[in-house]
Amino acid sequence: MRASLALALLFTGCLNTSARLDDLDAAAPLGEASWDCQSDEAFFRDTAWPKVVAVCAGCHQAGGQSGNTRFVLLPEDSAIADNLARVRDAAKLKDGATPLLLAKATNIITHGGGERVKKGSASYAILKHLLTRFDHPPTCAVGDPWPKTPIVKPVALADFDSEQTLAYLNKIAPLLVERFVGPSEMQKVIEKKGLAIPDVLKSFTEDPRLENAARRMIERLLTASGTRDGIDFSLPGNLAVHLVREKRPWSEILTAARCYDADDRAIDCDSGAPFTAGVLTTRAYLAGRASRFNLTRASTLMNAFACFTYPLPDDVQPRIDKTRLIPMFQATTPEEQSDDRATSGFGNGFGCYQCHGQFSLHAQLFVKFDRAGRWQAKANGLQDPEGELGNSTERLMTSHLNDPSAAAAEVSQVFGKPVQHLGDAAKVVASAPSFVPCAARKILNATTGTDAATTIDPALLAAIATAARARAADPTFADLVIATFSDPVVVASVLQGNQK
Ligand code: HEC
Ligand code: HEC
Repeated sequence: MRASLALALLFTGCLNTSARLDDLDAAAPLGEASWDCQSDEAFFRDTAWPKVVAVCAGCHQAGGQSGNTRFVLLPEDSAIADNLARVRDAAKLKDGATPLLLAKATNIITHGGGERVKKGSASYAILKHLLTRFDHPPTCAVGDPWPKTPIVKPVALADFDSEQTLAYLNKIAPLLVERFVGPSEMQKVIEKKGLAIPDVLKSFTEDPRLENAARRMIERLLTASGTRDGIDFSLPGNLAVHLVREKRPWSEILTAARCYDADDRAIDCDSGAPFTAGVLTTRAYLAGRASRFNLTRASTLMNAFACFTYPLPDDVQPRIDKTRLIPMFQATTPEEQSDDRATSGFGNGFGCYQCHGQFSLHAQLFVKFDRAGRWQAKANGLQDPEGELGNSTERLMTSHLNDPSAAAAEVSQVFGKPVQHLGDAAKVVASAPSFVPCAARKILNATTGTDAATTIDPALLAAIATAARARAADPTFADLVIATFSDPVVVASVLQGNQK
């Protein structure tokens, strides 16, 4: 009895208006925290259009009562993208600093259509959020920085009371599934307190909206979304969604043989390479990360999927034989630096081999992909004599390797294992000991608003990885989410961030 009373109080405190309490329904997105985690398109389609804007279209359409104003919509529910663009344009209409959409809708400025939206109502919040996000794209994160102060150990799930448990779950639920804790989940919290966390997380992972969290994470990691220059930058996100939906191992983000279109239909990945490597063989990855000597493609592979920066630990990535590199990258001392361009451009002009002795091996995997992300059999990896340092001819990039036949070949070595091409290399990275802890780290980064520079205790990541692998040898995204967010140190950390 006492527990449920405390929870009732907590809940009122949590969702500060009673209107929101009426909406308490696991199926319905509730508060602004969840909206922040949606794309403009998703928020408009799922919330703004059905709840507010469709009403406006009754008059604001061609031939309608206000068809002659500057705010004209298409009445069809299917015209989402078009109507979003129209609202985005109309959002620029202002009276002083007040957006006309809001002022007219509320009749604060006399509106031919009268008061359509009450100030302070749920519809008002939706419209306001929509207008605000056009100028200030929301960020999706727990919000507080990963706590700097260490967690007091030992800590176990049983240590958290129902109030803390609910606060924790309501903090992460919007980020994972765009809603708050639902009634049946709440019941579990009342019954089992902190020990309910794995169960409730399991129920989160059964919510189809988890797909969106996976998409956001991959899109953020690879800065790839939308369409640009005729390239579909949503393919990496689509693959992430597919893996979550079909409960495939998360490692397939690097090893999947197919890509998926917006409707989750299998398509060929679009680079045209005679092998596949999940997101790595999408033009979104390859064109988005194109740079001199293929260094950004290589460093992203290491940063995003192995959580390594250069130089990697020696025992993880043995270096290439120095004499195989073009002279610029061979230098370990000033005397060894024979290329003036290195002395003038990069650090102190030596020590290049320290990092580029490893980089060279990873960059080589990308030697046949041009700047537009297309695989070119004829690529030779040679420096374009007329081009910028690091660029080859035909919009390709220069190899680190000295020998012309080696420079043209994709054969390389990753983490000490010989590979024929990027497809093999992706399998090595996806099955390396670094993959699962790195995925856990990226999930934490994505949901706590931290980044690769944030220190997260390696022991914590190792513990999460062990828990994830106990769920499945090759864990799914859901396994990773459950393992990550049922770690008591993560719970304590998020709660600690909460108190500040
Ligand atoms: C019952 C019909 C009707 C509905 C429904 C309606 N409006 Fe209007 N609206 C009008 C009329 C008529 C005008 C033109 C007169 C005026 O400017 O107030 C107008 C004008 C406007 C204008 C000014 C456009 C301009 O060119 O200056 C805005 C902005 C606007 N409405 C927003 C909205 C929003 C947002 C909604 C939905 C929440 C909405 N309206 C719903 C009838 C309607
Ligand atoms: C501590 C590791 C490290 C050392 C030492 C190092 N580099 Fe790099 N180098 C990097 C990283 C990391 C990048 C950026 C890769 C990326 O684009 O993500 C880079 C990029 C470059 C680039 C491409 C720059 C561009 O604009 O695209 C060149 C050329 C380069 N390094 C040459 C050198 C030379 C020459 C030396 C020795 C003088 C050297 N580097 C020493 C790590 C290193």
